[in-house]
Amino acid sequence: MPARLFSFIGGDTGPWRVTTMQVVVGEPLPAARRLAIASASKSPADPHAAWVLRGITSNERYVVREPERGELVAQQLALGRPEATCAALIPIRKNDAWWKLTQDERQRVFEEQSHHAKIGLQSLPTLARRLHHCRDLGDHEPFDFLTWFEYPPAEEATFERLVADLRASREWSYVDREMDIRLVRDPA
Ligand code: HEM
Repeated sequence: MPARLFSFIGGDTGPWRVTTMQVVVGEPLPAARRLAIASASKSPADPHAAWVLRGITSNERYVVREPERGELVAQQLALGRPEATCAALIPIRKNDAWWKLTQDERQRVFEEQSHHAKIGLQSLPTLARRLHHCRDLGDHEPFDFLTWFEYPPAEEATFERLVADLRASREWSYVDREMDIRLVRDPA
């Protein structure tokens, strides 16, 4: 079975070099120079880490319908492509108002009012992504979601446009903590 629990470890080690760490909204995270990603079975308790964020991949909550689901699967790119040397780790927390909505109401905001998957699909051909849920791990995780993206340097502008479009959507009015961490993978 593929690993589902991942730790993102910010500190002084790891293959990814942090280029920028920006607060989009809410509390910042302490500075880190590098990032390592570990799957649960190998998660080291690094005493020097500036922070460790944990999340678990899960079933889909919103995209259950065709043809969108099929399109997402068909276009999904693998992580770890050699040419995708840029990455973004965007941890996100949504506020109480979001979590008090019913699943149907959240679905409406996500899909009909924000067009999240549709906006995302427009840039998917160049972007590999993995979504991790944190609330499934307990009540004390600092974020609700850890979003991870990998892309080639030439696609930086596409990624910026995507992020800007999503942040302008209604869904983002529920976001009360968000960091934007950009990284590059140094040649081995
Ligand atoms: C390739 C571009 C993208 C695509 C195709 C995409 C697609 C999706 C889909 C299909 C889901 C719902 C999964 C489900 O049904 O549970 C989702 C959730 C999510 N995405 Fe994206 N996304 C993209 C980019 C982004 C970006 C750039 C961000 C952050 C800036 C982001 C943040 C999130 C978050 C936080 C969730 C969880 C929402 C929730 O459950 O409340 N996505 N995305």
